[in-house]
Amino acid sequence: MKQVIATVTSNEQLWGEHKVREHPKYLGAWLIRLKCPEIASEAMPGQFVMIDCGEGCTLPRPFSVHQVEEGSTISIFYAVLPNGRGTAWLSQRKAAEYVGLFGALGNGFSIHPKANKLLLVAGGNGIAPIYFLYREALKKELPVKLLYGTLDDKRCSIFPQTNVVSFTEDGTVGYKGKVTDHLPEHVDWADQIFACGPLPMYKTMAQMPELKDKHVQISLETRMACGVGVCYGCTIRTKSGLKQVCADGPVFDLHEICWDELSGL
Ligand SMILES: Cc1cc2nc3c(=O)[nH]c(=O)nc-3n(C[C@H](O)[C@H](O)[C@H](O)COP(=O)(O)OP(=O)(O)OC[C@H]3O[C@@H](n4cnc5c(N)ncnc54)[C@H](O)[C@@H]3O)c2cc1C
Ligand code: FES
Repeated sequence: MKQVIATVTSNEQLWGEHKVREHPKYLGAWLIRLKCPEIASEAMPGQFVMIDCGEGCTLPRPFSVHQVEEGSTISIFYAVLPNGRGTAWLSQRKAAEYVGLFGALGNGFSIHPKANKLLLVAGGNGIAPIYFLYREALKKELPVKLLYGTLDDKRCSIFPQTNVVSFTEDGTVGYKGKVTDHLPEHVDWADQIFACGPLPMYKTMAQMPELKDKHVQISLETRMACGVGVCYGCTIRTKSGLKQVCADGPVFDLHEICWDELSGL
C-alpha cells in the first residue's frame, strides 16, 4: 500500500444528469486519470484506492481502480452523487492539479488458474471495477463475456463492445430489461462468474437457482472511514462471521454474505 500525491492527467464527464438541482453541472459519470506509478504498478482488478477529496471531506473516499494505463496511471470511473461533497470536488479537478490518495487496497477478484471461460456481470456503475478485470482477461486471451446493464444508450455506449452483451432498461440498446433477466442463460457457459452492481442486483442473484452451486465473486460497497481495517465502520455479517469490507473484501463470494442484513447506503 502506497500513499502518494498523484498528478491529474485528465478528468472528463462521460455523461451528464440534469434532473437533480444540487450540482446540475457535475452530476453524471466521470473518468479521472491519475499519474501514480507506485499504485499503478501494484493494483489488481477489484482493488480500490482511498482519495482525499478536499477540505470539505474529513475522510477520504473509496473508489475502485477502473484501469491501469502504461503501468503508471490509474483511472477511476465515478458517479457524482446528489449532495456528494467528495465526488463533486473530484469532478472539478483539472489536468496538472494534484490529488492525494493511498492504495491499492483490499482483496480483489481472483481468476482461478484453471478457469477458462469468464462471465462478467456489471450493473450500472458496477462497470468501474469489472472493466479492469475484463481488460485483464482479454490481455490473457481468456474467453470472456461481459453482461453489461445500464438505464439507457448514453450510459451503455461508453465502453467497447467486444464480447459484450448489452442490456438497457429503456430498450434503446441491446436487450430490454435488467442484466439479471438474462443471466441464467449464460451461467452454464462459464467456469467462473464475477459481478459488480447495486445491492438489489446481488439480492436477485443470491436467489437464482442457476447460481446456487456456483462460485460467484462480487464486489461490495459500504460506507468506509479508514479503508484499512482499523475503524470497523465497514463491518458486515457473513456466514463465517463478521467481516470488514475494506480489509477482507471488497470482493466476497456471493453466497457468503447475509444479504437480508444488508441495507442500501
Ligand atoms: C470499495 C468501494 C469501491 C467504490 N468504487 C467506486 C467507484 O469506482 N466509482 C464510484 O462512483 N463510486 C465508488 N464507490 C462509492 C464511493 O465511495 C461513494 O460514491 C463516495 O464515497 C461518495 O462520496 P461523496 O463525498 O460524494 O458523498 P457523501 O457526501 O459522502 O454522501 C452524499 C450522499 O450519497 C450517499 N452515498 C454515499 N456513498 C454512497 C454510495 N456508495 N452509494 C449510494 N449512495 C451513497 C450518502 O448517504 C449521502 O446521502 C466505492 C465504494 C467502495 C466501498
Ligand atoms: S473502513 Fe475502517 S475498518 Fe473498514
